[in-house]
Amino acid sequence: MEPQKEKRFIVLANWKMHKTLAESIDYVKALHEGLQTPGDRVEIILCVPFTMLGAVSREVTSSMVSVGGQDVHDRDWGAFTGEISAPMLADVGAAYGMVGHSERRKYSSETDEVVNAKARALHRAGIVPIVCIGETIDERKRGLTLNKLERQAMVCFDGFSGDEMERTVILYEPIWAIGTGHIATAEQAGEAHGFIRRMIERLFSGKAASMTRIVYGGSVKHKNVSDMLKVKDIDGVGVGSDSLDVENFLGIVERCTEAVSMKIS
Ligand code: 13P
Repeated sequence: MEPQKEKRFIVLANWKMHKTLAESIDYVKALHEGLQTPGDRVEIILCVPFTMLGAVSREVTSSMVSVGGQDVHDRDWGAFTGEISAPMLADVGAAYGMVGHSERRKYSSETDEVVNAKARALHRAGIVPIVCIGETIDERKRGLTLNKLERQAMVCFDGFSGDEMERTVILYEPIWAIGTGHIATAEQAGEAHGFIRRMIERLFSGKAASMTRIVYGGSVKHKNVSDMLKVKDIDGVGVGSDSLDVENFLGIVERCTEAVSMKIS
C-alpha cells in the first residue's frame, strides 16, 4: 500500500525478531478490530520480520496501516546469499524499510555509509526509508549528542534529492533509551527533534524540513506515551517491546489519535 502524501502522525511498531506467522496474522486481525475510529491523521507502520511481510501485507485492509521491513540490502539483485533487496520488499507489499537501527549497527557493524547506501536503494524502489539515528549514553554524558546527530545525518542523507528527503522518515532513538525503560524526557526529545529539523533545513530546504517526519523511539509504552506527545517537533513514536501486545499497542494508537486531533482542532 502506498503511503499517503499528507503528513500523517506515525505510530510505528518494531517487532524485531518476534512472533510466528500465525501470531502475526492474529495480531493484524485484532489490530483492525480495535481501530475504533479509523482516521486519516495517524498512520500505523508495522515493521515485521521478512518472513511475515507478505502475509501481514495481505491481511491489511485499513488505509491507516502500512507495512515495513526492518532492514534491506543496498543492491537491487545479485549473488548476495541470504539478503533481501528493496525491489523484493516492494514486491511483497512493503511501503517502508527501516535502516540503521542501533541493533543492526551494533550486531552487524553497519556504518552510516552503509545506512546511506541502503536508504538510497529503498528510494530507488519507491519505498520510504525509516532512517534511525541516536546517541549513546556516553555521548550524551559528554555533551556530544548534537554532534553525533549531525554527523549521522550528514552521511545517512548524503546524495538525497530534496524530494527524497521530504519522503524520508527519521527515527530518533537515543540508544540508552532502547529496551531500558528509560524514555527520554520531553525536553531531551524536543531538543534533538528541533535540532534535526533545523539541520534538514540547512542541508536541504525549509520545505524538506517541514515535510520530513521525525519520530521518537526508545521505551515508549502505552503508560508513558502521553508525555512524549507534548513534544513540539514530534511527528510520531516508534515502539519496540510494547508493540508486541496488540492491546497495549492499540492503547498507544488511541492516545496518539486523541493528541493529534486535539492539536488540529
Ligand atoms: P523499545 O520500545 O523496546 O525500547 O524499543 C524501541 C525500538 O528499538 C524501536 O525501534
